[in-house]
Amino acid sequence: MLAGIGRPRYTAPMLPAQVIQKKRDGHRLTEAEIRFFIEGFTRGDLPDYQMAALAMAVCFQGMNFDETMWLTRAMVESGKVVDWKPGNFLADKHSTGGIGDKTSLLIAPLVACCGIRVPMISGRGLGPTGGTLDKLEAIPGFRTGLSLTEFQRITDTVGCCLIGATPEIAPADRKLYALRDVTATVSCLPLIVASIMSKKLAENVDGLVLDVKWGTGAFMRTRQASLELARAMVEVGKRYGKKVVALQTDMNQPLGEKIGNALEIQECLDILAGKSRPKDLLDVSLALAAEMLQFAGKPNDLEKLITSGAALEKFHEMIHAQGGNASKLPVAKHQRPIPAPKSGYIHGISCDQIGYAVIALGGGRKVASDKIDFAVGFEHPKKIGDRVECGEPLLLMHYNSDPTDAERMVQAAYDIQDQPVTHKPQLITERIA
Ligand code: URA
Repeated sequence: MLAGIGRPRYTAPMLPAQVIQKKRDGHRLTEAEIRFFIEGFTRGDLPDYQMAALAMAVCFQGMNFDETMWLTRAMVESGKVVDWKPGNFLADKHSTGGIGDKTSLLIAPLVACCGIRVPMISGRGLGPTGGTLDKLEAIPGFRTGLSLTEFQRITDTVGCCLIGATPEIAPADRKLYALRDVTATVSCLPLIVASIMSKKLAENVDGLVLDVKWGTGAFMRTRQASLELARAMVEVGKRYGKKVVALQTDMNQPLGEKIGNALEIQECLDILAGKSRPKDLLDVSLALAAEMLQFAGKPNDLEKLITSGAALEKFHEMIHAQGGNASKLPVAKHQRPIPAPKSGYIHGISCDQIGYAVIALGGGRKVASDKIDFAVGFEHPKKIGDRVECGEPLLLMHYNSDPTDAERMVQAAYDIQDQPVTHKPQLITERIA
């Protein structure tokens, strides 16, 4: 039950332009005004240009916490709230996105093995960041576009299911997100909070763990901005009576050893098979999964689930239930190392440029209609603090077409200096509960 906020009282009819003007001039909107806008926009009564104008006004003037909460609530109620069978604890994890971030693919089977239901509605690549759906679609046959009924059935029978947003879940966000994407209104705290939380609240899980990233490969470039985002999302979730925790994690360098859709699936298969243990990726994934277990009061046997092969089996079970077969992942025709242009220590990585280099290879979209080459990407990236000699590989590139641009982008992304690095980035910087 939603705590602390009463139902909106509808006032006299209002003109959309009056609401836009009010926000443009820095005033606080009422719940009725926000609901009027979101409902009208979702129904198609209110045109895109008015919604875009309001979104831009919000970008300039912000929203206080109540307004953000009301916006989230109007967006949740623009569609269905999933109705689960009683008796099971349901938990999800959401990441604000990064480079090489495949934590969802490890967490879903691990946590499902512990008896928690894990329904995950995931997204596609956004800007330089990779998307869980694109990674999953690298698996031949894998279907992410399931109906809500199939999503519920697989979550109930297998324990976890990963799909894309369905038209029934937070349709206001679906429409608004597409509009924000083309009107430079994505990067705005209240709009991000409402967008992410409306989908998660409509999913109707009991517990939600948020991985709020900061750094050169994240939406939020500074720790302060990501902290504010984390606090706002946690507070919205709590007001909805959910168990919510956010971990603030570092995204100043790629997570794990592989970047690119099929490569990242392979990395997860190797980790769950016990063949590979990239410390940064495992530390973040196991910390997030542990929070989900704690919500449900379950013992933390995550390491055992890897060594026993149970989590790998669960991952294959989910892939199979969603029509996929991970035994034949696409492989790029060519591989070649990208050499360091000079000797020294890695002081920093413009991590977004690594993401854009994947796109340059064809592994992401330049425009929405682009088809992805799932096989391309990078592996074994040098990380901050590592020493490299001139000509030594910074990472290994997998490619199918001319890789000249991607190679230049990667070399320019690495900041190599003569002196050793004294401070390596801390992986998990805050826990917000
Ligand atoms: N992810 C979302 O779903 N929405 C945003 O606004 C940003 C990231």
